[in-house]
Amino acid sequence: WITINTARHMEPSSLPTAVEVRGWVRTRRDSKGGFSFIELNDGTCLGNLQVVAPAELSNYADEVQKLTAGCSVIVTGELKESPAQGQSTELHADAVRVIGWCDGETYPLQKKRHSFEKLREWAHLRPRTNTIGAVMRVRNRISQSIHRFFDEEGFYYLHTPIITASDCEGAGEMFRVTTVDLDKLAAGNRPLDPTRDFFGKPTHLTVSGQLEGETYASALSRIYTFGPTFRAENSNTSRHLAEFWMVEPEAAFFDLRDNMALAERFLKRIFTDCLNDCGEDMEFFDSMIEKGKLDQIKSVIEKPFEHMTYTEAVEKLTTCGESFEYPVQWGTDLQAEHEKYLTSLVGGPVILTDYPATIKPFYMRVSDDEKTVAAMDVLVPGVGEIIGGSQREERLDVLTRRMAEAGLDESEYWWYVDLRRYGSVPHAGFGLGLERAVQYTTGMTNIRDVIPFPRTPGNAEF
Ligand code: 4AD
Ligand code: MG
Repeated sequence: WITINTARHMEPSSLPTAVEVRGWVRTRRDSKGGFSFIELNDGTCLGNLQVVAPAELSNYADEVQKLTAGCSVIVTGELKESPAQGQSTELHADAVRVIGWCDGETYPLQKKRHSFEKLREWAHLRPRTNTIGAVMRVRNRISQSIHRFFDEEGFYYLHTPIITASDCEGAGEMFRVTTVDLDKLAAGNRPLDPTRDFFGKPTHLTVSGQLEGETYASALSRIYTFGPTFRAENSNTSRHLAEFWMVEPEAAFFDLRDNMALAERFLKRIFTDCLNDCGEDMEFFDSMIEKGKLDQIKSVIEKPFEHMTYTEAVEKLTTCGESFEYPVQWGTDLQAEHEKYLTSLVGGPVILTDYPATIKPFYMRVSDDEKTVAAMDVLVPGVGEIIGGSQREERLDVLTRRMAEAGLDESEYWWYVDLRRYGSVPHAGFGLGLERAVQYTTGMTNIRDVIPFPRTPGNAEF
């Protein structure tokens, strides 16, 4: 047995005589010459393997000629050099075994092209399409690449909790965790305190593993988390999910400069791995999804990232003459439209630093000017922010002051504050949204199409 990817990319000089492939039929076409062409795909690559099924097969009329898109089959035969354009090999079948029939009347993925929006209604079948298949292979490549990169850089992979009592970002966008049966509650069957039922205190799904990550960076020096993250942001945009995957490195003895350099090396490594290992898929995105994507990615890898302070960015935004939906002035948070403008201005990724303290969370390190914090966001064309990070506040007095200003109860975060009491060190880290990275790499416009089962307001069907 070999994969279709292997079968398609074998050297014509070294073709094996007997192989078995397994997959799903994309199309079948009967030729007048007494055989059928079956396009077979098993998800291991973009292209199909052409199977030539001769009329001599014992099940030719009964089964082969009844194959439709979606049927699963196992084919054995001989791999030969193909005379046809666009493929180097084809499989001359000596047996085509039908494993699962597919009702052509009801199967949604007929030959016609469907919009991505329509495909989301068939989240269980859309991985069989070229685009979603390619996206998920690239997503896999990026995920593996993330682990390789941090392993090589000496970061330990740390598993931080999904259920937590702290709110890292302080934005109040959390999903509550409870065992309380709402139906029983509605029926008047009240537990003593529904908000503290299981853990004895209110808990929710994590919005970031950073705070817990900092504790381990303060011991193992360098760690990274990589896991699902949840935000109950009620925003229906093309770049927000209620459940997304985030990678969060955290390093002791790191300042903002180290952090920015790490983020740049990291992104370049991901892009390089995608170009090297997913060449065919990347070419597909370049020709079918976003023209020029390949050249864009290559130039991102070659050139150093641009840097700009928030203050400089605001200056550019307020003097450029563009009319934005959301007006900007020093102290306001930047919106997608502003990020878009800035990335097109520099023509590539840009790292924005030194944001106003008032619009950033309590844990970011306050700068000497007392107005800004050592924050960094990496913005990329088309997507906007893909990384958010900072140097952390390592001074006990400043941290507790910031917590008080943010209205946080210090006693709830005693363990976090403790890190500043016992061998505190300058440290920094960031979070990369995996889906935003996949979006940028592939050029896919909607974030719902780069995660297998998107969770957005009103959507949890699958
Ligand atoms: O900028 P954010 O909120 O930063 C943090 O959570 C920090 N605690 C990270 C850290 O320093 N360790 O989120 C980081 C990234 C964003 O830049 C974005 O790529 C992604 O996570 N992200 C989302 N992706 C999809 N859907 C959402 N609702 C997202 N919110 C953030
Ligand atoms: Mg952010």
